[in-house]
Amino acid sequence: MRYALIGCGRISTNHITAALANKLEIVAVCDIDRSHMQSLLSRHQLDKDLTIQRFESYKDMIEAVKPELVSIATSSGEHASIALYCIEHGINTIIEKPMAMSLRDADAIIEASERTGALVSVCQQCRFNKAVQKARLALEQGRFGKMSHASINVYWHRDKAYYDHDAWRGTWAQDGGCLMNQCIHGADLLRWMMGTEIDTVYGVTRNHLHQYLETEDVGLAVIQFKDGTIGTLEGSGNVFRENLEETLYMFGEKGKVKLGGNSANNVEVWDFSDPRPGDEETSKLNEPAPNVYGHGHVRLFADVIDSIENHHAPYVDAHAGRSALELILAIYKSQKTGLPVKLPLDDFSTMEMRK
Ligand SMILES: NC(=O)c1ccc[n+]([C@@H]2O[C@H](COP(=O)([O-])OP(=O)(O)OC[C@H]3O[C@@H](n4cnc5c(N)ncnc54)[C@H](O)[C@@H]3O)[C@@H](O)[C@H]2O)c1
Repeated sequence: MRYALIGCGRISTNHITAALANKLEIVAVCDIDRSHMQSLLSRHQLDKDLTIQRFESYKDMIEAVKPELVSIATSSGEHASIALYCIEHGINTIIEKPMAMSLRDADAIIEASERTGALVSVCQQCRFNKAVQKARLALEQGRFGKMSHASINVYWHRDKAYYDHDAWRGTWAQDGGCLMNQCIHGADLLRWMMGTEIDTVYGVTRNHLHQYLETEDVGLAVIQFKDGTIGTLEGSGNVFRENLEETLYMFGEKGKVKLGGNSANNVEVWDFSDPRPGDEETSKLNEPAPNVYGHGHVRLFADVIDSIENHHAPYVDAHAGRSALELILAIYKSQKTGLPVKLPLDDFSTMEMRK
């Protein structure tokens, strides 16, 4: 399958790794900065491969190489316009999270994908963590019994050097704050596990330690699901010195689970009233990862390829991308208005936080 990458920065190495692992034919890469393409290809020993074309304009690239699959790993504010261009050209598209900065753009992506038949998947790759998959299976098997509540805690460290490196970070137009950038995986996990139907979101955000940014560096939310269960989300880049954890707790009448590690990649507690074969092994499941991005891109790309070849929806589709985005935007709207926010949200954009 002919594949091209748009955006060759920090996360792009996971995209190339995923493309190589899944035997995609890499036909082109694109970046507005040529040096980023060069260093990405060098890192993967692909810089001498003349079959991989290089473009500074994604439109020129689409025109010239007509890929069957693209992935978009640019700064977040560029995702929607680039995705819409690719989808309108009938190209299957993997979009880095967040899929867009507004619900209007997310809805436009969904509409264009349904109309053109181009498949869309969003890199909410933590769903593919082995620990997360185990918890999801236990949930689908009804092992928790009646659910009570759940919580996601993203305690990470992002310092001034991280923000100084790229001007787009911590801006409402291109990034959003720690909730939109770092915590959207957690928002996705919480909502996916507890049921996508949310009634009300109560959110509070602050900027305490990164006052040179437009956006928040810590945020808390209480989420009331339509079935009566409740959840909390706590996220921050303000943790001193280094990342501490991304932890998901799930509590039901007949079971409790705690997934920990840096990005919900380890099982720390696994306890159910109906012990089953494999529980002992699951309770010790650790999936070490070199960074918080984990191994999920390889699995997400594999799923997308299978979805294209076998004509089914991807595991993390555009609706999943919209759900996670909607939850973060609801927290922002609650902070902005000082009021609880009812879902569904018709539209809200990070740019409304700037007014
Ligand atoms: N899924 C994950 O776990 C994960 C992890 C890190 C980053 N991300 C997301 O990936 C995206 C990129 O993050 P990053 O840390 O790699 O950022 P980065 O700044 O390191 O890389 C972005 C690259 O996109 C290029 N670019 C910007 N606009 C472009 C355009 N119009 N056309 C072509 N290239 C363009 C930039 O020159 C840069 O090389 C962000 O949306 C971020 O939220 C996801």
